[in-house]
Amino acid sequence: MATPLTIADLKKMAQRRVPKMFFDYADSGAWTESTYQANESDFSKIKLRQRVMVDMTNRTLETTMIGQRVSMPVALAPTGMTGMQHADGEMLAARAAEEAGVPFTLSTMSICSIEDVASVTTRPFWFQLYVMKDKDFVMNLINRAKAAKCSALVLTADLQILGQRHKDLRNGLSAPPKFTPKHIWQMVTRPFWCLDMLKTKHRTFGNIVGHAKNVSDLSSLSSWTAEQFDPRLSWADVAWIKEKWGGPLIIKGILDVEDAKAAAETGADAIIVSNHGGRQLDGAPSSISMLPQIVDAVGHKIEIHLDGGIRSGQDVLKAMALGAKGTYIGRPFLYGLGAMGKEGVTLALGIIRKEMDITMALCGKRDINDVNSSIIAGRQ
Ligand code: GLV
Repeated sequence: MATPLTIADLKKMAQRRVPKMFFDYADSGAWTESTYQANESDFSKIKLRQRVMVDMTNRTLETTMIGQRVSMPVALAPTGMTGMQHADGEMLAARAAEEAGVPFTLSTMSICSIEDVASVTTRPFWFQLYVMKDKDFVMNLINRAKAAKCSALVLTADLQILGQRHKDLRNGLSAPPKFTPKHIWQMVTRPFWCLDMLKTKHRTFGNIVGHAKNVSDLSSLSSWTAEQFDPRLSWADVAWIKEKWGGPLIIKGILDVEDAKAAAETGADAIIVSNHGGRQLDGAPSSISMLPQIVDAVGHKIEIHLDGGIRSGQDVLKAMALGAKGTYIGRPFLYGLGAMGKEGVTLALGIIRKEMDITMALCGKRDINDVNSSIIAGRQ
């Protein structure tokens, strides 16, 4: 296939290389997937202002997220089971992010552990925390993230219970995969994926197995995760975590103005306007449609980031114009990773960077820090 030019090209390539159950896991939304789809389609309703006869030389996309310098306002989002899209996936993606000068966020539910990622990176990465009922385990994660010199903790607020994803249920998803005829077939028809997977020792949840009480193998792990997400999570827990962590804190999964106000009161450094990529409350509005109200309500108090639906540099620019200080990509980098490993993540970031740069110029701006709502022509 010719060099991929878009995230959609990488998606097609990933679908051919990654076993169906893992490709579907990345690609799933909850229930009807209406929120997942709205995240993407609402971006295309926003129209940009075309400007001419302005100096477009010497452009820069460099800015900061939570005060940390980034080569463009795009971080890699925390995505579960990234190491199942490609062997050693989290380590490869973290290295690609480091080379590109953007933050990598490691999920609690990753395959490679905090220590694995720390061993292949030199720039501090961010760690995403799920607050589990087992508070000793939560402390263990926080301490390990500190020891690895992670430079931000991203606390996920919107997964107290898991939204239902039909594809995962139908596929009988697990990590490592089960060995039923259906699962074996899905894997043997993806030989390159299998060969890489046979070479690595990272095939289950590296942050959990061997660290959480009574979790040593797959069956104890699945019952542990099912019962460990904490449905009682509250703002008081956020205060506890902020105190124990003591470093930059980002709260992920805010989609409502009232919740944004409460999050701003916690003294966190940023919030991520997010509906978990449409994987939790199906029927919720898209992230981009909620961004302006949340910026109006709390933008003067706390830095605002956005994830959900970003498939191009143009989408990043629109989010920045509507008041975000940074964005995250999940599926776009997973498609790149599944398609081509580290090189695919680099390509995904490059595709987004190039489009953002050219779009910004054609809107008459030279510096991402000067992008504001003046570049928006309207909505259709
Ligand atoms: C985990 O974060 C998931 O959405 O599966």
